[in-house]
Amino acid sequence: MSATCVIGLQWGDEAKGKIVDLLTAQNDIVVRYQGGANAGHTVVFGGAKYKLSLIPSGVFRPEVKSVIASGVVVDPEALLSEIDRLRGAGVEIERNLLISDRAHVIFPWHKEEDRLMNDSGVRNEAIGTTMRGIGPCYRDKVGRSTAIRMGDLYRSDFGEKVRKICALKNSSLPGMARNAEVRATVQPLDADKIVADYTSYAARLKPFVGDVVNYLLDAVDANKKMLLEGAQGAMLDVDYGTFPYVTSSNSSGVGVIAGSGLPATFIKRVVGIVKAYTTRVGGGPFPTELNNEIGQRIRDRGNEYGTVTKRPRRCGWFDAVAVRYTSRLSGATELSVMLLDVLSGFDEVNVCVAYELDGKRIDYVPSDVDELARVAPIYETLPGWREEIDGVTSYDALPTNAKNYLARLEQIVGKPVSIVSVGPSREQTIIR
Ligand code: GDP
Ligand code: IMO
Ligand code: MG
Repeated sequence: MSATCVIGLQWGDEAKGKIVDLLTAQNDIVVRYQGGANAGHTVVFGGAKYKLSLIPSGVFRPEVKSVIASGVVVDPEALLSEIDRLRGAGVEIERNLLISDRAHVIFPWHKEEDRLMNDSGVRNEAIGTTMRGIGPCYRDKVGRSTAIRMGDLYRSDFGEKVRKICALKNSSLPGMARNAEVRATVQPLDADKIVADYTSYAARLKPFVGDVVNYLLDAVDANKKMLLEGAQGAMLDVDYGTFPYVTSSNSSGVGVIAGSGLPATFIKRVVGIVKAYTTRVGGGPFPTELNNEIGQRIRDRGNEYGTVTKRPRRCGWFDAVAVRYTSRLSGATELSVMLLDVLSGFDEVNVCVAYELDGKRIDYVPSDVDELARVAPIYETLPGWREEIDGVTSYDALPTNAKNYLARLEQIVGKPVSIVSVGPSREQTIIR
C-alpha cells in the first residue's frame, strides 16, 4: 500500500498538473484534497492543452478514479462547466469521478465577501485573491453555523437553510465594505434564485457525490495505489506560508492528511514540484522578484500569465532558501524541476542561497511577513547555457551548465532531482 503526493514548493503554478498527469499512469486513484477553483492546472498531450480547476489532473486516464476529497471547497457551477468543457473535448467523466459529501460548497455570498475583504484596507497591500470565494468558504467551514456541505444539497431543509443564511449575509455584507463607495456596489442576495440554481446543480452532480472517506479507507485496505494532487504551493500555506498573503488552506505537505482523510503512514513518496526559477501571482513579499528585463524575459519565455485570472505572474530567480524550507516542511522525498527550458539563453543564472535581513545574513524564511518583505536576496551566480533544450530527452544530453545548475540546486535544497521538465507536453519530461 502506498501513496505519492505531488506538492508545489513555491507560490503555486509550479506545473503540478503536468506531473500529476504523468504519474497517474502508475496509480489506481488520483485525489484533489484542498483548495478549489482558485487552482488552474495545465495538462498538455497529443497536441492539445487542457485546463483543470477542480477535477484532478489524472482524469485523462478513464480507468483511474478521480476523487475530489473532503478538504476541497467546491463551486458547483464552476465544476459543472469544467465537466461540460472536458466532455466537449472528448474526456470521459462518468463513473470515474467521485466527490466527497463532506466537501464544503461555495455560494455567491462567498464570492461577494472575497471581493469586499480582499482589499479590506486593513493592510496597505491587497492579498490579490482569485475572487473565487475560497477564503470566505473556508471561514464559514471553520465557523460552522453558516456552512453548507455537498451532502446538505440533498437534504429537505436545504432551501430553508439557504434563505436563513441569505438573510444573515444580507445584513453583514454591506458592513464588510471598506467605505461608502464600495458599500454602494453591494447587491442584495436573491435567495429564491440561489435555491433554484443550486437545486439544479445538485441534481446534475448527484451521480458523483458520495462517501469519499470510506471509499479511500477501503482503497487503503485493498492496497490500491494513490496519487494525491496538491493545489497552490507551500509558500501559500495558511499556517506556514507568507501569511496573510496566502490561500486559506494547508497547501504544503501538511495539508494532505487533513484534506484527504488518509492515514499519515500511507504516504510513502512526496514529489516536490519547483520551477527552475520562481513566480508568484497576487500580493505579498517575493525576495527574488525581478522587476526588470530579466523578469520580463522569463515571463515571455515561460508564458507566465495566470491560468485562472490571466494576471501577469511576478517572476524572479530560484529561491533556494524558500524551497529548502518548504521541501523539509512537506517531507519531499525528491524534486521535480520544471520549465528548465525557460532559462536557456542567459549568460549567467542566479540562485538565492541566503537572505540579508537588517544587515545580518540569515538562511531561513522569517515568520513575520514584514521581515520577509525587507530581506535582500544573497545570490550565487552560475554560468548559464545558450542551447535550447526543449527537445532534449535524456539527462546526459542536457548542456553541462544546465546539469551543473541542477546539481547545485540539489546541494543547496538537500533533495535529489528525480524529474526534469523541458517543455509543457508529456514527452518533454526527463525521468532520471
Ligand atoms: P500548476 O497550477 O502547478 O499545475 O501549473 P500551471 O498550469 O498553472 O502553470 C504551469 C504552466 O507551465 C502551464 O502553462 C504548463 O503547460 C507549462 N509548463 C509545464 N511544464 C513546462 C516546461 O517544462 N516548460 C515550459 N516552457 N512550460 C511548461
Ligand atoms: P495552482 O493550484 C498560484 C494565490 C492568489 C492570491 C492568494 C490567495 O494553480 O498552483 P485565494 O483565491 O486562494 O484566496 O488567493 O493565493 N493563489 C494562487 N497562486 N497558483 C494557484 O493555484 C493559486 N491559488 C491561489 O493569487 O495571491
Ligand atoms: Mg496554476
